[in-house]
Formats: sequence, structure tokens, C-alpha cells
Amino acid sequence: MTSKSPTPVILDVDTGVDDALAIALACRLAELEVIGVTTVAGNVDQQRATENTRRVLHLLDAGDVPVAPGMTGPLIRPHRDALAYHGPNGLGGLELPPSPGRMVGAHAPEFIIQAAQEHEGELVLICLAPLSNLAVALLLEPELPRLLKRVVIMGGAFTVAGNITPWAEFNIFVDPEAAAIVARSQLPLTFIGLDVTTRVRFTREQWERCRGLDHPEARLITGVSVWAFEHRQVDAYALHDPLAVAVAAVPDLVGVEPAEVVIDTGLWSTAGQTKMVRSGGQASEHLVALEVDVERFVALFAGALRLPIV
Ligand code: RIB
Ligand code: CA
Repeated sequence: MTSKSPTPVILDVDTGVDDALAIALACRLAELEVIGVTTVAGNVDQQRATENTRRVLHLLDAGDVPVAPGMTGPLIRPHRDALAYHGPNGLGGLELPPSPGRMVGAHAPEFIIQAAQEHEGELVLICLAPLSNLAVALLLEPELPRLLKRVVIMGGAFTVAGNITPWAEFNIFVDPEAAAIVARSQLPLTFIGLDVTTRVRFTREQWERCRGLDHPEARLITGVSVWAFEHRQVDAYALHDPLAVAVAAVPDLVGVEPAEVVIDTGLWSTAGQTKMVRSGGQASEHLVALEVDVERFVALFAGALRLPIV
């Protein structure tokens, strides 16, 4: 029986804690081939996101994966980071050695466009950060919706409260204008919002089981979790970005509904709010995840990263 060849993917990240785990998952899933990582200002500034990404890839022995730096801030609004959640270095306090790998010369939006042209109809873009890079890529190349196979976005809060304001999820909140450009486009979008990501969590008890293991994936998850479990003193945190990666590999992990997605770009407190509008196919219809098979995700995550957490 011929095995399906892996899907080429680009990860768009603001490497923080859950981005780091998502990068590890994408590198270890046989269903995916990471052909590049683009970085953007979000959890941390773009320079820190780029450096964190290169160090995580190096830890995973994937230092040859091209990393393309992107937007250093939102399209219009000032950048708002999430260092309080991810720790001063964005990796939960984990210090990793620098990567000897080379940087690519292309700017992230150009890198996305070039890769979409080279892998026409096959490339899946997995957006795990504010959508500034994708919005610029769309403005530069209006044909992008025809070139990309799929875009999986960790973003939005459709039937639940936000996590940065009562209304908005962080990735959308940081750059609502970019999210609006993306949502109004004809890109084939799947939104993996807080509606499902808050149901997949890494717990203190699972962390205790991973501590002491010496393989790179265990060292990564135990290290990036220190800020959460020792400084923030929480008992669990959500695996937002890893779920989006898992859905790119195994789409039926989530139950989705078709809808037009409307982004609040106002100047008031509800900025960044995301709404589903059942348009019956009139406007740009996308898919919004509202259900998730938690057990299957945990099994996939634990198996790929060789973690004793099931
Ligand atoms: O709201 C969660 C999202 O915001 C995740 O992508 C996390 O890394 C932060 O970027
Ligand atoms: Ca992220």
C-alpha cells in the first residue's frame, strides 16, 4: 500500500511557548513536511520570535529548515506582546543554544508567495500568530487563494470568551486589520479558535511525568513549561498552536461549520472580536472548528513527541 507523501507546510509563528511545541509537533508528524517557518511580532517581538524559532529548530535537529523573518508589528496598531504569559524570553525561561543555521534572505510575505508558487495547489499554511504576514502576502499576490491548498489559523473566539479581552483572542486582537483582510479573502481558511483550543491542555501532573526524560522533545516541553508551573503557578495551560498543527495533519480531529467570519476592527473595547455569520455561501465562506476529539489529539501529540502523558 503506497503511503501518502507528506503535505508541504509553512508555519507562521510568534515563538512563544505553545508555538515552540507546535514547531516540534510539525517536525515530528509524518503527515507534514515543514518547508519553512516565517516569524512575526506577537507573543514577543519579531527578532525574539525569529531567534527562538531558530533555536527550537536546532534543538530538534531541524536547523536546516529555512526561517524567514516577517512583520515587526501590526499593520496599523501598536504591537502588544504576551511576555507576562510566555516569560521574559518567550520560551518560558528555557535557555537554548543558538542555531548555527543560515537565515533566508526573503521577507516572510515574499517567502510565503514564492513557496505557494513552487508548490502550487499543495502548500498548507499554518498560522499560529497575528496575521500580519499573511495579510501583506495577500496584498502583494492576489492570486494566493488559488495557489494555497489550505490555511489553518489558530485564532478567534466564536462561541466563548476571549483570552486577552473578554471579546478577543490574542492573535486576532494584536492585528485585527490583518485578520479582516484575511477573513474577507477567498483563501480556504479553517479557524481553530479558543472554542476548541482551550479544551486541549498540558497539566502539571503530565509535566511531572516528563521531567527527567532526556530526549529533545521532553527537554523542550519541560523547559518551556517552567514559567507556567513555577512562576504563574497554574495547574494547566492550553496547547493552542499544537492543535492547529494537528488539524493540518488530521483534519477530522475537529468538527467544523461553514460560515463567513467577521472581525471587529473598531477602536472600542470589542476590537478583535470574531463572529460567525451563516451566509449560505454568499460571502467568503470559511470553516470554523467548534468540536474537538481531545483524546485523539492527546494520543497524536504524545506519540509524535514521545511523551508519557496519555
Ligand atoms: O491565543 C493564543 C494564541 O496567541 C497562540 O498562538 C499563542 O502562541 C499566542 O500567539
Ligand atoms: Ca502563537
